[in-house]
Amino acid sequence: MQFTTVVLGASMALMASAIPMHEHKHAHLHHSRNADNFPIRITNNCGSDKTFGLYQITGAFDMLQVSEGRTIPNGETHTLNAPFTGLGLRLSGNGDWPLGDQWKAQGLAEFGYSAYNGMDGTAYNLSFMQGSDESIGISITPDNSECGPKSCTSPATCSLTDAWTNPDQTANGSPADTVCYHGKTGFNVVWCPSS
Ligand SMILES: *[C@@H]1O[C@H](CO)[C@@H](O)[C@H](O)[C@H]1NC(C)=O
Repeated sequence: MQFTTVVLGASMALMASAIPMHEHKHAHLHHSRNADNFPIRITNNCGSDKTFGLYQITGAFDMLQVSEGRTIPNGETHTLNAPFTGLGLRLSGNGDWPLGDQWKAQGLAEFGYSAYNGMDGTAYNLSFMQGSDESIGISITPDNSECGPKSCTSPATCSLTDAWTNPDQTANGSPADTVCYHGKTGFNVVWCPSS
């Protein structure tokens, strides 16, 4: 948890210079169905049912639940709509955990709005905090082919450009963080990818 807080704080401070900080402090779920959303197509390849949920860490480090938990059977795909201008969004494969437990170590696909020099788009990364289940990998593939995919079949074997596994990666220029500066684009996310 400390790791997330420190790294997230640094990266949010960077983003804050470019864009207004959207803080969602109210408690209700944000139902996201309009044009200000981008699709995240989630495929569960983990061998058994998994429950997914989208959460958000605000600038004040509150954990918010953005979508209702959705159970996806093994081998199936479900599309979740995420707010395009949302910051600090994290897709969890442990959407059955209570909100307070979302701070625990787990594999996450993270998304956030980013604007720079007249361009905007979605920043994305994979994050596996120390202690994440080593049998659960994740991949993210943007629809826009100019934005590269990221994949890690296990937190134990992620490359620096594919995922955050350690806060020290800021010293290497945070290579796990990528922004797709092509406006709104969708993403395919696979839990337990085969490669
Ligand atoms: C990953 O990206 C999200 C969304 O932009 C961001 O909030 C988060 O801080 C990034 N993770 C790390 C470890 O920097």
